[in-house]
Amino acid sequence: MSTTTATPASLHLSNLAPTFSQSEIRAMNVACTTVGGINLAQGVCDTDPPTPVVQAAMDAILTGQNIYTRLDGITALREGIAQKLASFNKLHVDPHSQVLVTSGATGAFYCTLQALLNPGDELLIFEPFYGYHLLTIRAQGLKANTVPLHAPEYSLDMDRLRAALTPRTRALVLNTPANPSGKVFSLAELEQIAAFAIEHDLFVITDEMYEYFLYDGAQHLSIAALPGMMERTITISGFSKTFSVTGWRLGYLAADPRWIPAIGNFHDLTYICAPAPLQHGAAAGLLQLPPSFYTDLAAEYQAKRDKVCAALTKAGLTPSVPDGAYYILADATSVPGANAKQKARTLLAQIGIATVAGSAFFSTDEQGRNAGDNLLRICYAKKDEELTEACQRLESYRG
Ligand SMILES: Cc1ncc(COP(=O)(O)O)c(C=O)c1O
Repeated sequence: MSTTTATPASLHLSNLAPTFSQSEIRAMNVACTTVGGINLAQGVCDTDPPTPVVQAAMDAILTGQNIYTRLDGITALREGIAQKLASFNKLHVDPHSQVLVTSGATGAFYCTLQALLNPGDELLIFEPFYGYHLLTIRAQGLKANTVPLHAPEYSLDMDRLRAALTPRTRALVLNTPANPSGKVFSLAELEQIAAFAIEHDLFVITDEMYEYFLYDGAQHLSIAALPGMMERTITISGFSKTFSVTGWRLGYLAADPRWIPAIGNFHDLTYICAPAPLQHGAAAGLLQLPPSFYTDLAAEYQAKRDKVCAALTKAGLTPSVPDGAYYILADATSVPGANAKQKARTLLAQIGIATVAGSAFFSTDEQGRNAGDNLLRICYAKKDEELTEACQRLESYRG
């Protein structure tokens, strides 16, 4: 009997694997735990989930809703999502053919790329970007071309968008309200992006996770609701942030019925379905929580934003005041360090506050320059006691 022994040469990582390292956010989490600091790095959102959501999920577990669901999610949840999309986003979709419940917005984004794009295709992505978007694009052999927004308002520059287009561009990624800038795209900006997408026949993949986190009267608008956009737009959202259940891994997307089966098939291959009892929790939340839940959420986070922005200003870390989401990009020129990664570590060492290096959200050019190297990202999705302590530490900071 002969046995085959694998040679060391056949035991190796894929070509892509070595190009992915632990993200800077996770690295800061580890560093923060090591020094027992306050973690304003990752957007974990450790406020309490609403009671009806938790109660319905527990009831579902106790009453045996613990098996696989349909690959596109339970009917009650798809119907709840369709109703919410109609009333809040002005998107009118059929819950049975245009909604897919996913394992987080992250799963929705991953499977969308797998179903709609081919290796070598290019996507446009606004900068600063959400790191997972960029890395997910790269993980699938796709290319991201970044389009810088104008700081400090992070406004759209159509010339830059046009300049980033190539004959291989097939999709544009949008994130509104945006992580990390807090930018909320205006109607005029969305109309220009929509006209551009139609002119160049692009898919638009829009991540609207923070759609309820809006401040100072900012309004959330879904690009899919603009004329001619539904057929080319994949609208992604989820429950992680709105219901404070980041660990539940529950999100969804809405799209033209032509795209849902293929995206659903890829989702099925990876996850089979989103967690069954937790789908019941989210469905109950959509059905039972009054409109005031969402307006109270925005008011609660606006107060957190104001508190942290005031502390940052006192510390000499001038914030770009966000209109939405729950992150702040602050100017870290006064913090010692050659680059943002070092500055983030300095701040952690000096006052025990973990932030994320701004460079994680911008591309680095061939000369090694990165527009985020003087910025730190602060997440304020934290309980008030912890935020108060963090603000006191910031106010005591003398860079
Ligand atoms: C813009 C954006 N999209 C998606 C996610 C993750 O969403 P989910 O937990 O539903 O996968 C985050 C989390 O920080 C995010 O900031």
